[in-house]
Amino acid sequence: MIRTVIEGLGHYLPPRVVTNEELAQSMNTSDEWIVQRTGIRERRYVEDGVGASDLALPAAQKALEQAGLAPTDLDLIIFATLSPDVCFPGSACFLQARLGCRPIAALDIRTQCSGFLYGLQIADAFLRTGTYRHVLLVGAEVHSTGLDFSDRGRDVTVLFGDGAGAVVLGAREGAGLPSDSGVLCVRVCADGTGAKELWCVAPTSARMPRLTHKMLEDGLHFPQMNGRLVFRWATEKMPEAAQQVLDEMGMTANDVRWFVPHQANLRINELVARKLGIPDERCWNNIERYGNTTAATIPIGLSELAESGKLQRGDLLLLAAFGSGFTWGSALIRY
Ligand code: UT7
Repeated sequence: MIRTVIEGLGHYLPPRVVTNEELAQSMNTSDEWIVQRTGIRERRYVEDGVGASDLALPAAQKALEQAGLAPTDLDLIIFATLSPDVCFPGSACFLQARLGCRPIAALDIRTQCSGFLYGLQIADAFLRTGTYRHVLLVGAEVHSTGLDFSDRGRDVTVLFGDGAGAVVLGAREGAGLPSDSGVLCVRVCADGTGAKELWCVAPTSARMPRLTHKMLEDGLHFPQMNGRLVFRWATEKMPEAAQQVLDEMGMTANDVRWFVPHQANLRINELVARKLGIPDERCWNNIERYGNTTAATIPIGLSELAESGKLQRGDLLLLAAFGSGFTWGSALIRY
């Protein structure tokens, strides 16, 4: 049986650190409120002129280097982002050109915080069927240029940061057993009845022109969120999805070396880990340093874990995410 394996990991965070105190200078918030409600202490912001593919490039290069592969070895790029460089074409095309790949397949996916898991399922299907041999899966986001820094946006703005993570995936023969290396199970879901609970309305193809001065005045180009509802769904769906993949593989939380959840709120992750019976020391969180980087959070977490030496080959990883759409999912990977 063919298994999808992680061949290389990389991440890149822009150097500019933005603290809670700095945000409190432009809006009515405080370090105390942000830390208490979310666990976030600081996040990273890009400099003017830097887009999602610019952040993705160094992350992808690191992942390729770790995999011992050249950009010309890639057969497919999957770019998960809700903040593409431009409306079209997709950021995967910009990245493909910048990396210097062959004329390969390059596509963007828009499943927000669950983007990495959706991308993993797509890559897994292509690799296991032998369609492609090496896939670059990237999550990269530039949120800072699309946030409302007035009091109106404080509930959302304090949460998000910029960053990129990348994984090079390849195919390897496995025995079809839970002891195999690679992706053992990945499941993703959506429930569009929640689409308007965390969304960004403008620009919209339903209006002509797509963006008006009125829309800008009303802040419709900024994300809007029903925070309490999203919190409730996240703490329900993430453990449910994680338990599903464990059950499917006949495993328990005790088998998991590292739980790497999406980073939206430290309180969400603590609740989810508790529901699953995973102790804090086996749950990877970096939200205090980066905030929520949406599709980039899981690959940044994986890359940091590997770089720190805390993730060893053979370790079982449990991933879970929930976000806008609503979309959610979970995966079990033996590193
Ligand atoms: O990755 C995508 C998925 N996103 C998420 O998973 C986010 C899920 N939601 C959350 O993490 C939380 O709901 C938030 C962190 C967004 C908010 O925390 P909360 O404990 O649910 O607060 P709340 O929305 O119930 O608001 C409590 C109070 C309100 O004031 P009043 O009405 O009690 O006077 C808010 O206006 O906190 C106020 N507030 C703030 N105060 C200071 C909201 N944002 C801020 C802020 N600073 N930044």
